[in-house]
Amino acid sequence: MIAFRHKMVSAIILLSLVGPILSYDFSNMFTSQYPVGWCNPFLPYSCENITQVSDSQSCCFEKDGLMLLAQFWDYDLDLVSVAINGTDASKQAVNTTIYQQGAGYFGIGDWLKSAWDQFRTDPSSTMPIEKSFTIHGLWSDKCDGSYEQYCQPDLEIADSVNLTDLIGNKFNKPELLTLMQKYWINTASSNVAGDSNPQLWEHEYNKHATCMNTMNPSCLVGNYRQFEAAVLFYQKVTEIWEQLNTYEFLSKFGILPTVSNSYKLTDIQQALSRNHGDKQVYVGCTSDGVLNEIYYYYVLKGSVLAGDYKQVDLMGPASNCREDVWYLPKPN
Ligand SMILES: *[C@@H]1O[C@H](CO)[C@@H](O)[C@H](O)[C@H]1NC(C)=O
Ligand SMILES: *[C@@H]1O[C@H](CO)[C@@H](O)[C@H](O)[C@H]1NC(C)=O
Ligand SMILES: *[C@@H]1O[C@H](CO)[C@@H](O)[C@H](O)[C@H]1NC(C)=O
Ligand SMILES: *[C@@H]1O[C@H](CO)[C@@H](O)[C@H](O)[C@H]1NC(C)=O
Repeated sequence: MIAFRHKMVSAIILLSLVGPILSYDFSNMFTSQYPVGWCNPFLPYSCENITQVSDSQSCCFEKDGLMLLAQFWDYDLDLVSVAINGTDASKQAVNTTIYQQGAGYFGIGDWLKSAWDQFRTDPSSTMPIEKSFTIHGLWSDKCDGSYEQYCQPDLEIADSVNLTDLIGNKFNKPELLTLMQKYWINTASSNVAGDSNPQLWEHEYNKHATCMNTMNPSCLVGNYRQFEAAVLFYQKVTEIWEQLNTYEFLSKFGILPTVSNSYKLTDIQQALSRNHGDKQVYVGCTSDGVLNEIYYYYVLKGSVLAGDYKQVDLMGPASNCREDVWYLPKPN
């Protein structure tokens, strides 16, 4: 009994010593589905500690480690003029069309939650695209908000590579491919040459992921197969995106797509921030004042694939929107 007590006391002392790191999620360290090596959990989060982490940690510490998950809202372009210049009658007509398609914009409630839960467990399932912000990408900014691009041409995916075949067949990830085909789509806002979805995927890896030092193929364990880092990157991006159901974040605050009224930018920012650890989220608009992009910011402890992402405030301008923001429905 005394020995037992002694052990308990020791355990409590030990716990209080390591207390500061207990907020770190250790589960990843042992259960990561990604083929990466072990990382020392005492390393700092990226951008939080100006001490240079040694080069030998380059698989465990992202040097330009202000991470952003970027999403598109690919609204119906035909609705811009209705929203901005339309008559009540034309707005009513849009309302009716959307309403009659049923199920959706105005009837959110428990069914949405259950649909989302189901979507989470079955990525190939049915989260309707008109209620989904889609994936733009995962970027690594420098800690001051600037960024590098196309850092390692030798790693780039060439246009001649068939990414559909690579992901679905060569790497045998048909569920990932299905999810990407539905939710990682090349939109009017993407600024990517070409309009196929794989062109956006290729662009995102080449421009951004080749700049992430912890995504370097040399950081992966096991027999490396060409473009394995890219496929794992795509998987990670979809995983982070699945945690960020922007449509639901907004709808919980009564902010739903409509041509009838605009919304206050501050209301949109507040709704998103409430769902991002009270940290500021970037809201992007077109020059017409129509919402089309959202960026969520993180710092990272460990690698891009297996590390712990911590929510942080955005860096740089909070928005390019006007005070009144149009949040327009998507085409069906
Ligand atoms: C910064 O990181 C270094 C190396 O990991 C560590 O020795 C130091 O205590 C850290 N400083 C702060 C303020 O966290
Ligand atoms: C709205 O009407 C104004 C004035 O006629 C015009 O300049 C503007 O281009 C229109 N905007 C849209 C999106 O149709
Ligand atoms: C469209 O529907 C919304 C929600 O039901 C309603 O608040 C709004 O007044 C409607 N707009 C028009 C022009 O009928
Ligand atoms: C890419 O691969 C897929 C699946 O194997 C195939 O269906 C498609 O036709 C290929 N695309 C091109 C452009 O070759």
